[in-house]
Amino acid sequence: MSRIAIRSAAQNKTTCLRSVSIVGTGSYLPERVLTNADLAKMVDTSDEWIMTRTGIKERHIAAKDEATSDLAIEAARRALAQAGVAPQDLDMILVATITPDMFFPSTACFVQKSLGAVNAACFDLQAACSGFLYALETGRQFIASGSVDTVLIIGAEKLSCITDWEDRSTCVLFGDGAGAAVLQNRPGTRGILSSVMGSDGNLSHLLSMPGGGSRNPASEQTVKEHLHFLKMAGKEVFKYAVNSMLGAAKQALEQCALTIDQVDCIIPHQANVRIVQAIGERLGAPLSKYYLNLPRTGNMSAASIPVALDEAVRAGFIHQRDVVLLVAFGGGFTWAAAILEW
Ligand code: ACO
Repeated sequence: MSRIAIRSAAQNKTTCLRSVSIVGTGSYLPERVLTNADLAKMVDTSDEWIMTRTGIKERHIAAKDEATSDLAIEAARRALAQAGVAPQDLDMILVATITPDMFFPSTACFVQKSLGAVNAACFDLQAACSGFLYALETGRQFIASGSVDTVLIIGAEKLSCITDWEDRSTCVLFGDGAGAAVLQNRPGTRGILSSVMGSDGNLSHLLSMPGGGSRNPASEQTVKEHLHFLKMAGKEVFKYAVNSMLGAAKQALEQCALTIDQVDCIIPHQANVRIVQAIGERLGAPLSKYYLNLPRTGNMSAASIPVALDEAVRAGFIHQRDVVLLVAFGGGFTWAAAILEW
C-alpha cells in the first residue's frame, strides 16, 4: 500500500494517509462544432473579436437529445477502459456539473445506471468551473482515509442549454463536453501531492444563473427575463480569476514544497487565453508548459480541466513521473489547485 504524508494547513500537523493517484482518464466532446464564423451569423460579433479577446476559435455543442449524463457516460467509459477498472468495482461516482440532467436525481445516478456500477454511492457536486478539482479532492479524501478504494470523478457540462444565444458577451465563450478520471491508491506512486480549495460567496452576483431555483422558481416571467441563462460580469470575473488561480497555485506549490520550476505541465481552467497568459507571466512558467485546448473547445466549466488532462495524457504531453499542476476558478466564486506526480 502506498502512503503519503499530508500536511494539514488547518491543524499544521502531519498525518499518514493512503496516497491517491489518477489511474485512468477519458473525455468526450459532442460531434457538432460551432465556429466563430457560425456565431457571426447569429449575433453581432466576428472571428477577429472572439480570437483576440478570448483565443477561442470553435466549440462543441451537444445535440438536442444529448443530456449532460450522456456526455459524462462516454467520458467515464473511456476512463474506466484506460484504468482497467470494471464498473462494478467503483465505490463512488462524483459528477461535478452546473448543468445536471435534472435538479434530481443526481446526474451521477444516471451515470451509475448506464454503467451498471451497482456498488457505487453517487452524488453530484457543484463548484462551477472549479468543480472537477473539488471532486478530485473529495474523492481523494475518501480513498486516503481508507473509507473506499475506487472513485470515478467526472466534470460534465451542457452549457449550451444555459447560454443566452442572443447575448454576444457570453454566447461566444462556452462549449459542451465531459472529462473523467478514476482514482485509486496505486502502490509505488505518490499521486496527488497537494490540493487546495477556496470560495468567496460575497462575489456570487458576478457569475450566476438566477432563474429556476428556489429564489426565482421557473415562471413565464423568469423565462421572459432570460433568468434561466448564465449571467457574467466579464471584466470583474477576469480580474478575480487571475488573482485567485495565482493564489491557489502558489498555495498548492507551498503545501508540497515544490517550486514552479519543478512543475512539468500546467493545466489551467480554460476560460480565456489572456487569463492563462496573465497567470503564466506572474507564476514565472513559460507558456510551453501549459496544455491548452481552449481554441477548439471554449470554456466547458467543470469539464474543461478533465478534458484537457485526458487529451494531454493521450497526446504524450504528460509523461510518467511528471509533476502536473491543475488550477481552476469559477462561479461562486470558487477556486482550487492540485499538484500531482503522474
Ligand atoms: N463581439 C463583439 N463585441 C463584443 C462581444 C462580442 N462577442 N462581446 C462584447 N463585445 C463588446 C462590448 O459590447 C464592448 O463594447 P463597448 O466598448 O462598445 O461597450 C466591448 O466589446 C468590450 O467588452 P468587454 O466586456 O469590456 O470585453 P473584455 O475585453 O472584458 O472581454 C470577456 C470580455 C471575454 C468576457 C472577458 O472579460 C473574460 O474572459 N472574462 C472572464 C470570463 C471567465 O473567466 N469566466 C470563468 C468562469 S466561467 C464559469 O464559471 C461558468
